[in-house]
Amino acid sequence: MSNIAEEINKRRTFAIISHPDAGKTTLTEKFLLYGGAINLAGSVKGKATARHAVSDWMEIEKERGISVTSSVLQFNYADCCINILDTPGHQDFSEDTYRTLMAADSAVMVIDASKGVEAQTRKLFKVCGMRGIPIFTFINKMDRDANDTFELLDEIEKELGIATCPVNWPIGSGKRFKGVYDRHEKHVLTYSDTQKGTKEGETTVISMEDEALLLESIGDEALSVLKDEIALLDGASAEFDLEAVRKGKLTPVFFGSALTNFGVEIFLQNFLKMATAPLPRSSQGELIDPVENAFSAFVFKIQANMNKAHRDRIAFMRICSGRFDAGAEVKHVQGGKVMRLSQPQQIMADERKILNEAYAGDIIGVFDPGIFSIGDTVCAPKDNICYEGIPTFAPEHFARVRQVDTMKRQQFIKGVNQIAQEGAIQIFQEFNTGMEEIIVGVVGVLQFDVLKYRLENEYNVEIKLEPLPYEHIRWIENRDEVDLEKLSGTSDMKKIQDLKGNPLLLFINQWSIGMTQERNKGLVLSEFGRG
Ligand code: G4P
Repeated sequence: MSNIAEEINKRRTFAIISHPDAGKTTLTEKFLLYGGAINLAGSVKGKATARHAVSDWMEIEKERGISVTSSVLQFNYADCCINILDTPGHQDFSEDTYRTLMAADSAVMVIDASKGVEAQTRKLFKVCGMRGIPIFTFINKMDRDANDTFELLDEIEKELGIATCPVNWPIGSGKRFKGVYDRHEKHVLTYSDTQKGTKEGETTVISMEDEALLLESIGDEALSVLKDEIALLDGASAEFDLEAVRKGKLTPVFFGSALTNFGVEIFLQNFLKMATAPLPRSSQGELIDPVENAFSAFVFKIQANMNKAHRDRIAFMRICSGRFDAGAEVKHVQGGKVMRLSQPQQIMADERKILNEAYAGDIIGVFDPGIFSIGDTVCAPKDNICYEGIPTFAPEHFARVRQVDTMKRQQFIKGVNQIAQEGAIQIFQEFNTGMEEIIVGVVGVLQFDVLKYRLENEYNVEIKLEPLPYEHIRWIENRDEVDLEKLSGTSDMKKIQDLKGNPLLLFINQWSIGMTQERNKGLVLSEFGRG
């Protein structure tokens, strides 16, 4: 038992969120370097090759040089076993990106210092906020001209609604970047542009009391600005409060440059101290303790056809409690069956390693013969655990989809349904009519290409997509109290239904949503569907 507790308590499972190009891949590579998982010395890969290396599960990824799927990276550092949940790093992301956050215990938010909070950070942040997980901020690219530091913090507070607490403070930026001031230790860490990929930067630590050395290293102008800023900061910023950090109410902020490897290790060390080991999760109102309880996990992602040779489907599970033993029987709660999980594996980039054991906090991929759905629970046969479902995230792009050859109706319906079951797309119908016309909703437009590609290649069905102008979808929370026939919306509003017959509304803009709510008092609309 103590061994299990030890293993679980050293787990740190987190996702990295950022807007594309903020430096997520570079930072991840540097983390791996510190963990000794890879040896990058002198060979930091160019973006194109790095992305190829991450995954080539699908042809479409290769063709475009992007990663549609996500993977998990595991490495050890300073007595911790770290699981980084990598998410697709391209402009168009899918629901998988959101779902991955459901499997993480905390999130690292990478922000480009010259850009501040960007669109995708905002979206991902919303999901973190919904779960109340701790968020750690790494403000990257300090070696380039950055926005004013106070303004950057202000923007995070205002735009994302989270208090900030700088753990360190940058001294200049761009060509005049001199290093950071550590607020807790009250010393300066000087910056030197290290060789790409090497671990040891030539950082010197200088106490704030050693004025002579500071003057020599960073110069009198930078020192005087720093002193003013520290005084201002000490008077203005939130006090560091670990409890608030762990509740996701306060984000510790670090500054650095992932590319030149400055500030990365300090960040990692502090992060590991502040982030928690796997926390209890709720099952029907009861908290399941990661250490005390036997094995349990939930499915957060399903990926089909990762291996073209065998049409396989992999279900990704996040272990929430106990130890997973490959030989032991488990219960698939939703299916009501006791079984052994087939080919349990760790999915690291494009490598797969068969696992014999894993612990709470870890992610495993198992072969799925088509029985799992997103949100399902598996647990020890004697237990009855059912984790709360994963919410359905609002698609932002819609299209009407038709098969070109009407003779292929059956394959078309089968394919669309299976791809929807994996959670890659959501399907809807016209309100009060049959399945003749299918409306597909996706979180990222790339999913349309994936849908087209997969229907053609896996189901031999050619389709036509007709984009629709809607960008907002709302579930009706109190559908029993609302007479849909009488609902008075705006002229551009569209009523649709999901496959269970639940009514939904599509809107072109926010204004129409507000107007519809105003015209129909008592109508409760929601951005997330129930999982
Ligand atoms: P992403 O995963 O968030 O999309 O970003 P990624 O790490 O791929 O970084 C995007 C670009 O920003 C890359 O340049 C990368 O080298 C650069 N970058 C990352 N961190 C820093 C930093 O701290 N300072 C500076 N100056 N640049 C940084 P690229 O030219 O697009 O690609 P590459 O050919 O250099 O790999």
